[in-house]
Amino acid sequence: EMNGDVQVHLEGVPAEVLRQVEVCLQPFKLSENQLKEVTSWLKRDMNHGLRKHRHKNAAVKMLPTFVRATPDGTERGDFLALDLGGTNLRVLHVSVGQELQRVVTMDSQICEIPQNIMLGTGEQLFDHLAQCLSTFLDTKPSLKGKTLPLGFTFSFPCEQKEIDKSILIRWTKGFNCSGVEGHDVVQLLRDAVLRRGEYDIGSIAMVNDTVGTMMSCGYGDQSCEIGMIIGTGTNACYMEEMKNVKRVEGEDGRMCINTEWGGFGDDGALSSIQTETDRQVDRKSLNPGVHIFEKMISGMYLGEVVRLVLVKLTQQKLLFDGQLSPDLLSQGKFETRFISEIEQEDVGLDKAQVILTELGLKASPVDCQLVRLVCDTLSTRSAQLCAAALATIAKRIRKNRGLDHLKTTVGVDGTVYKKHPNFSKMLQDTVKVLAPKCDIKLLISEDGSGKGAAMVTAVAQRLARQSRL
Ligand code: GLC
Repeated sequence: EMNGDVQVHLEGVPAEVLRQVEVCLQPFKLSENQLKEVTSWLKRDMNHGLRKHRHKNAAVKMLPTFVRATPDGTERGDFLALDLGGTNLRVLHVSVGQELQRVVTMDSQICEIPQNIMLGTGEQLFDHLAQCLSTFLDTKPSLKGKTLPLGFTFSFPCEQKEIDKSILIRWTKGFNCSGVEGHDVVQLLRDAVLRRGEYDIGSIAMVNDTVGTMMSCGYGDQSCEIGMIIGTGTNACYMEEMKNVKRVEGEDGRMCINTEWGGFGDDGALSSIQTETDRQVDRKSLNPGVHIFEKMISGMYLGEVVRLVLVKLTQQKLLFDGQLSPDLLSQGKFETRFISEIEQEDVGLDKAQVILTELGLKASPVDCQLVRLVCDTLSTRSAQLCAAALATIAKRIRKNRGLDHLKTTVGVDGTVYKKHPNFSKMLQDTVKVLAPKCDIKLLISEDGSGKGAAMVTAVAQRLARQSRL
C-alpha cells in the first residue's frame, strides 16, 4: 500500500480553493506505476553506465571507485580527512579502532568557502583547502610533522583511475571553479600543499561522500553495502560484482560503484514526470540540463521548486489574497530547511506563519495550511523518487547475489534526510512497496563522509598488510 496521500488536515479551507490547489499540485504526485517506471528506467541506465564502451554518454555514470572491500572491523590507525562537499569544508582527525573499537572523530574544524571561491579559479580553491588544513594542524602540535595518511572526500563526479588519481568530470551543486574539470584533483591538492611549503601529507585516498558514508557505517555494521546522500545534492554508491564492472580489469570480488544518480534524466529519460516548474528550476540553475534527477530531490533545489509553486498559486489568487512579495519572487529565498520546519507535526503551522511573514507575505491560517500542503507534496515526491532509485539498487544487489531475499544496510547522510520530520518514513514505506524482497535498514551516519574517507585509507592499509602476510 503506497502512502502517497497527503496526511495534512485542512481545516476551514474552502472546497473550491482546495480543488484548484490540488489541480496545480497534481503533476507532482507520482503513482505507484510511475514510480515502478522510474525504477525500470534507472535499471536500464545503470546498465548503460557500467558498459565498457560509450559509457561517457551515459546519464548515470556508474563510476568505479577502486574501493574493493568494506571494513571488517580490524582496521586501526590515525588519519586526517578533508571533506569538501556541500557548502563548507571540514578537516578532521579521525581515529580508527583504538577507542572502543569505533571510528571516532577526535577533532574537527569547519572552514567556510566564500561564494567567490566556489565560483573562482581552481588554484584559489585548492589553496583555500591547503590553508584550512594548515590552520587545523597548527592547533594540533601532536600531529605536526607526523604525515598521517589523508582521506580526501570530494563529492563531485570523478573518473577515478586509482584510489589516488581522480579526474573531475564536471562540477555540480553550487561549485564552478575554472581549470579543474578534466584534471586530477588529488594532484591539484598536492600541488597546493607544495605551494604552501609548510607541511607534508602522506598517501591520499580520494572518495565520494556516498562512499565515505557507506564505509563509516560499515565499521559497525558489516552488512552495510550501500551509501546514500540526500543533502545539498543526492547520490548513492553500492558494492557491485567485479565481473560487471567492465571498465576495470579483473573478474573477482567486488568494487564500490559511485552511481552519480543525480544525473539520471540528463538524456531526457524523466521528461514524462518532469513538470514545467522542474524545467524552470533547471533553466535558472548554474548547470542547465545537468543533474535533472537531483534537481527534483535535493536540498539545493527543493525550496526553489516550492517557491515557484507558491508564486504560481499566488498569481492564481489562491494564496495571500493574490499579493506577491519581492522575497517570494527572488530565487533561493525560500530555503529548503523551511520545508522541514513547516512540516513539523505540532508547531509547523506556527512556523509557517513566522516564515511567510518574514518573507513579506500576509498569510492567513488558511494560507499556512495550503503552504504546508505544497511542502508536503514536494517532499513526498522527493522521498519517493529516492526510494525508487534505492529500490533499483537493492534489487540489483539481490539479483547479483542470486538471493531470494536480500537483507542489507544503507548508510545515509544529508540534511534533507536528517532534518525533515518524516522523509525517512516515506522513503522506507515506498522502498517496501517497490522492492518487496529486500529488507533494508537505513542507518544515519554521523560525519560519515569525513570518517569514511579515513576508513577507506584504513581498509587499504589493512588489505596491504594482509597481502604481505
Ligand atoms: C552531487 C555530486 C555527487 C555527490 C552528491 C551528494 O550529486 O555530483 O558526487 O555525491 O552531490 O553530495
